[in-house]
Amino acid sequence: MNRLHRFIGAAVVVAAVLFAPGARAEKPKLNPALVSEGRIAYQAHCADCHGQGGRGDGAACEALQARARNFALETFSKGRKPAEVFETVTVGMDKVMPSFTELTEEQRWGVSYYVLILRASGRNERAAMAAARSE
Ligand code: HEC
Repeated sequence: MNRLHRFIGAAVVVAAVLFAPGARAEKPKLNPALVSEGRIAYQAHCADCHGQGGRGDGAACEALQARARNFALETFSKGRKPAEVFETVTVGMDKVMPSFTELTEEQRWGVSYYVLILRASGRNERAAMAAARSE
């Protein structure tokens, strides 16, 4: 095999891995546009169950067997790295949370980052209230 053939062979293998159906989506860097897209998707698709602030107090949840997660206070049993949340959003959870493959990949990344931002801000608020109480 000459060098050109080897190069073409390698390029085909790389393309097959990158574009294979179900190949792992590349995580985009956190940026304000992505977060704003995530916030819009969250309000449209998640807040009914998880609540606007992510406290697990959305109205739709009352009809469910399981309560939706309070992102600030409860554990993410499937992991809380952005890629793990992305996976949860993509496949759904325990028959009580639907999968969101109708959202674009970018919307799913945005919503995953947005959930982690809600988590951090909920935790900060709790810490701030504890600090204020002890003043
Ligand atoms: C129909 C109600 C419902 C909707 C809509 C919904 N969820 Fe959930 N979600 C749940 C419930 C219920 C759980 C807890 C499942 C359990 O404990 O088994 C959950 C759990 C989660 C978890 C925690 C996963 C873990 O690792 O423990 C994340 C993150 C999450 N949802 C994100 C989202 C996002 C993002 C959206 C919108 C794209 C969304 N959910 C829409 C009901 C919902």
